[in-house]
Amino acid sequence: MSLVDLVDLQVLGDNRGQLVVLEAQKNVPFDIKRVYFLMGTQPGVSRGFHAHRTLKQAAICVSGQCLMLMNDGVNREQVILNSSSKAILIDSMIWHEMHDFSPDCVLLVLASDFYDEQDYIRDYSKFLELVNNA
Ligand code: TYD
Repeated sequence: MSLVDLVDLQVLGDNRGQLVVLEAQKNVPFDIKRVYFLMGTQPGVSRGFHAHRTLKQAAICVSGQCLMLMNDGVNREQVILNSSSKAILIDSMIWHEMHDFSPDCVLLVLASDFYDEQDYIRDYSKFLELVNNA
């Protein structure tokens, strides 16, 4: 199975413009407890470099583009996020990195739980150890 799981979001709209809906347990496969977004990322800055023990997330690049790298400890895949009508699902225990943000990139992220630093695995060797002992 591909590490890159993109959900096509239906674009509703009329002559006034477009509208995209994200709904828990419908086109987003979890209950949404938190929403955050990354914007104004400075040139050359990469973000992420962690996995989550239990958190599930969905990310939508609502403006501009960035490169998402996903790694389950065995396989790596990358995808350019440049569509506001696609959500990438980031499961728990997936090491992810975001690179090559365009200056206008706004990355909207929906998360299945509140912020909890204890849920982060920020050390890559610790991540591999947990994957290999699973
Ligand atoms: P972090 O998740 O480390 O960002 P990234 O992995 O994209 O580089 O978050 C950056 C900082 O923001 C960190 O100090 C934790 C804080 N933060 C919150 O307080 N709440 C949140 O919901 C998130 C996502 C981050």
